[in-house]
Amino acid sequence: MRKVILITGISSGFGKEMSRVLIEKGHIVYGTIRKSCDVAPGVKTVFMELADSNSIRNAVNTVLQNEGSIDVLINNAGMHSGAPIEDAPEEMFRKQMDINFHGWINTIKNVLPGMRSRKSGLIINISSIGALTGLPFQGVYTSAKFAVEGLSYALRLELKQFNIKVVVVNPGDFRTRNVETREMALAENSAYEKQFKKSLAIIEKEEGEGKDPVLLARKISKIIDKKNPKYRYLVGSGIQKAAVCFKKIMPERIFTFLISKYYGM
Ligand SMILES: NC(=O)c1ccc[n+]([C@@H]2O[C@H](COP(=O)([O-])OP(=O)(O)OC[C@H]3O[C@@H](n4cnc5c(N)ncnc54)[C@H](OP(=O)(O)O)[C@@H]3O)[C@@H](O)[C@H]2O)c1
Repeated sequence: MRKVILITGISSGFGKEMSRVLIEKGHIVYGTIRKSCDVAPGVKTVFMELADSNSIRNAVNTVLQNEGSIDVLINNAGMHSGAPIEDAPEEMFRKQMDINFHGWINTIKNVLPGMRSRKSGLIINISSIGALTGLPFQGVYTSAKFAVEGLSYALRLELKQFNIKVVVVNPGDFRTRNVETREMALAENSAYEKQFKKSLAIIEKEEGEGKDPVLLARKISKIIDKKNPKYRYLVGSGIQKAAVCFKKIMPERIFTFLISKYYGM
């Protein structure tokens, strides 16, 4: 069935691929951008800056005025920070949370009244496998993803009565622009410098060898087609998915030992 879909952040990466795949499937696709960029034919764009609640409201209202409703919201846009927690300035945490968490809440809040009144809707939150395992020196970024996890758990319970479904998708490593745009912080003469650089090299190697984002876009398309989607979908390599499983079943001590070894710590 043809649906009205709003995807945040379609200038690159997952957003770009999702918008292309979903328009090819015949859906009405709106994607948010912050500056002009190439988009797939047929995809409509609206301006949205996640750090600005007015721009979020305007973007959602534009889609509602044009189409009357939004069937699917895909919370995707975000930024990525890498730093030892002790070295990360307060401003870095605030910015990360403003964009990857508060911006998502604002978007959800603007979309919900319409979905509630129609007693139908689907909200897909793009989280991360890192939000289920934890990652060294990615604590600023994963804190926001852990927050999205907490938000999503509560939301799915609160929205059940209105027949609005909440789905969390946890990607592993994919080759997108997030590696180039990651904001970094390392204090002068940092006590973490050696370990940070070593672990970061491993993380960046994994990201560079990541999967093609179109695979995630196709998965999202299938989720949208399902009458009763699952709450959570893990999309990544075998080892990344296994890590989530190990985290659940292994004693915390053993899991910590393994993940430390993996990241050269
Ligand atoms: N790639 C991975 O391996 C991976 C793994 C797990 C989870 N994820 C998650 O997947 C989602 C998409 O990331 P990606 O990997 O596709 O990265 P990406 O290629 O860097 O795309 C990020 C998108 O978010 C937009 N964006 C960034 N800051 C924004 C802001 N303040 N307001 C509005 N839009 C903003 C960007 O727009 P501009 O062009 O204007 O900056 C861009 O369209 C993110 O939530 C990320 O955390 C990615």
